[in-house]
Amino acid sequence: MTTTRRPIYVLNGPNLNLLGVRRPEVYGTTTLADIEEAVRARAAAGGWDVEFHQSNHEGVLVDRIQEARTEGAAIVINPAAFTHYSIAIHDALEAAELPVVEVHLSNVHRREAFRHTSYVSLQADVVIAGAGAFGYEMAVVHLLRTLKG
Ligand code: DQA
Repeated sequence: MTTTRRPIYVLNGPNLNLLGVRRPEVYGTTTLADIEEAVRARAAAGGWDVEFHQSNHEGVLVDRIQEARTEGAAIVINPAAFTHYSIAIHDALEAAELPVVEVHLSNVHRREAFRHTSYVSLQADVVIAGAGAFGYEMAVVHLLRTLKG
């Protein structure tokens, strides 16, 4: 089902293209393609389209956030390692002025100290960490409950 609504942008940072093979004991066995399928199904059930992207490059993610600013209804983002040091992604999210849900597959707070800092959380309305791939679906369910229009 397609709609006239602006899509929900679901953005993924570096190395998340390796989900399923990268440290499955930490990140699970679900692939990014599986996550995309689940997220699209969840959103479609509520009448929303999804723009789903992954990039290993900070500037490409900034470009996508800027695109969402004018074309999107909300942003779900797992910035991966950029979470912990990207002021550029922080600033792009600030400029977007959209609802933002930050997702991490792992519970970053139970891991190395450098993962306890998030520049993205300063711009996030909701933070989900440790629910695995299902965290993305939780993010969409939250948006379905809160988005207007
Ligand atoms: C991650 C956590 C980050 O610390 C890490 O750099 C990632 C994935 C997660 O989803 O748990 O690449 O964002």
